[in-house]
Amino acid sequence: MTERTELEITGETPTTVLVGSGLLGELPALLGGRVRRVLVIHPRALRNTGEGVREELAAAGFEAVSAEIPDAEEAKHLQVAGFCWQILGQSDFTRTDAIVNVGGGAVTDVGGFVAATWLRGIRYINIPTTVLGMIDAAVGGKTAINTSEGKNLVGAFHAPAGVLIDTQTLTTLPDNELFTGLAEAAKCGFIADPAILDLIEEHPREELARHDSPVLREIIERSVRVKADIVSSDFRESGTREFLNYGHTLAHAIERQERYQWRHGAAVAVGMVFAGELSTLLRSLDPAVVDRMRSILAKLGLPVGYRGDRWPQLLETMRRDKKARGTILRFVLLDAVGSPVVTEVPDDAILFSAYQEIGEQSPTTRLGPVSL
Ligand code: GLY
Repeated sequence: MTERTELEITGETPTTVLVGSGLLGELPALLGGRVRRVLVIHPRALRNTGEGVREELAAAGFEAVSAEIPDAEEAKHLQVAGFCWQILGQSDFTRTDAIVNVGGGAVTDVGGFVAATWLRGIRYINIPTTVLGMIDAAVGGKTAINTSEGKNLVGAFHAPAGVLIDTQTLTTLPDNELFTGLAEAAKCGFIADPAILDLIEEHPREELARHDSPVLREIIERSVRVKADIVSSDFRESGTREFLNYGHTLAHAIERQERYQWRHGAAVAVGMVFAGELSTLLRSLDPAVVDRMRSILAKLGLPVGYRGDRWPQLLETMRRDKKARGTILRFVLLDAVGSPVVTEVPDDAILFSAYQEIGEQSPTTRLGPVSL
């Protein structure tokens, strides 16, 4: 038996989260005794991993079939969901059967959506294979696909029965994916658990990037704990779950501005510094915390500024964001490390002042994040 940590997300639909290395053998128990058929959804790039999971399930006595779907954001299409529904239908999946999603955030988003909609909701397990997926997308039950009008516009809250976070799956993850994923860990550090920040500061980059590093494991585990605690008390995002969106209001606008060529974590890093600057102007945040934010994110190789000339477009996009309520923008801000607060900001001049602190003159800085 490998050493592993078990976390429980309580509330409307409980989730068991296992964190460790070499955890695949835990999958049958997570699926539970009533499940007979399992659909393993995996992207093209993870054919071998997905097939390994399917074989493991077949050896354990399940009727296991697989669905290979496109990589990354290409997976989050209605046609891909339709393809999975077709396999479920042809294989006679009932309400007591299940889905296992193996992959990054896009796979767990669309696979979770398929599970949420098949027969009005069946059991599913996520096996995230990226740091971003482990820390954020695979945990918490937000499932979605994109439409031509925007990202994540169609979806459902439907929590996985289990999440198997196996750090062995990170062996082949490129460093840039790993570090951009750690932006969400830094976010968890600033909104709730400063020990994550200490871990990033105290250890060399190379140690953070090793899939078998105990430090990386602890950062992942602590971040998942932050998310699990928040989701346990506010599954449907009617209150504190919004704190998880720290840095995301500007980040979504930057992603759109960059036609989704930036990694999510890179955009979140810039958005965090912007929200930090805004917090010094509107709340009681000590500017030293924003300096610390810049230094931690820069250590991870993440951008901390964006094109100064793009403010009008970013402001316009933020206003159209599906999460905006009316025309007044809402931001998650910080009063201090570990003390987030949701604040409406009606004054464009203050937003612009904060943006001036992160706006960059030189277009050359744009190249960095693109390669992230
Ligand atoms: N990604 C933010 C949330 O799950 O609420």
